[in-house]
Amino acid sequence: RGSQPLLQDLAGRRVVVSAGGTREFLDPVRFIGNRSSGRQGYALARAAVVRGASVTLIAANVTLPAPAGVTVTSVVSTRDLRDAVLEAAQHADAVVMAAAPADFRPRTYTDHKIKKTDDRSAPTVELVQNPDILAELSHDRPRKDLVVAGFAAETGDAEGSVLTHGRTKLARKGCDLLVVNEVGADKGFESTDNEAVILGTDGSETVVPHGSKDALAHRIWDLVAERW
Ligand code: CTP
Ligand code: CA
Repeated sequence: RGSQPLLQDLAGRRVVVSAGGTREFLDPVRFIGNRSSGRQGYALARAAVVRGASVTLIAANVTLPAPAGVTVTSVVSTRDLRDAVLEAAQHADAVVMAAAPADFRPRTYTDHKIKKTDDRSAPTVELVQNPDILAELSHDRPRKDLVVAGFAAETGDAEGSVLTHGRTKLARKGCDLLVVNEVGADKGFESTDNEAVILGTDGSETVVPHGSKDALAHRIWDLVAERW
């Protein structure tokens, strides 16, 4: 927003942002996780606070300091995240799912450390699918004017381009906005910069050029605010 005066255009709005990556424990010391740092979610929370919103940040395994003026709820697993997001969404005007929930969890949790055996064998970990929080919230909205946004990190493949996959995902999830990032070796994860296309259910495609996660966060709130 550079030299522009700070607009309190989100004043009076309650927003929920999820951030980080969930962990699914196999035993007390081991988990299945992912590389999400939580930076984009934290940037969204900061940007919303600056613009006057009341912000609840639901953080999964994030090591960043809590942004000033933000209520942070910590969660571990995708099911914890689901409970916290659905609860916070009851009183929210917008929910942005910037977290990377683990899609699968081990079918069983072993309450002691799994030990090696001498026969060089290895256990087989059976996985089950986790709930899809974004789809559930979008299809079963606690308030009809709730705006819901998600993220999708995609690569192009033989089935289609990054944006084709993004459109398909937007339709499947049922959210209003989907922020599509192209991921590759040095794009997206664990970087401070991001570039994205924000797809809307109204057919809109907002290209956000290479820039900071803060700049992307502000564009996302612009588009959320337009939908209120
Ligand atoms: N998401 C969610 N609950 C899940 C998985 C994902 O709410 N169990 C949300 C993410 O926070 C993100 C969006 O859905 O906002 C897209 O996540 P992504 O992993 O790209 O979608 P998936 O449906 O899991 O599809 P994929 O098989 O491509 O991982
Ligand atoms: Ca996924």
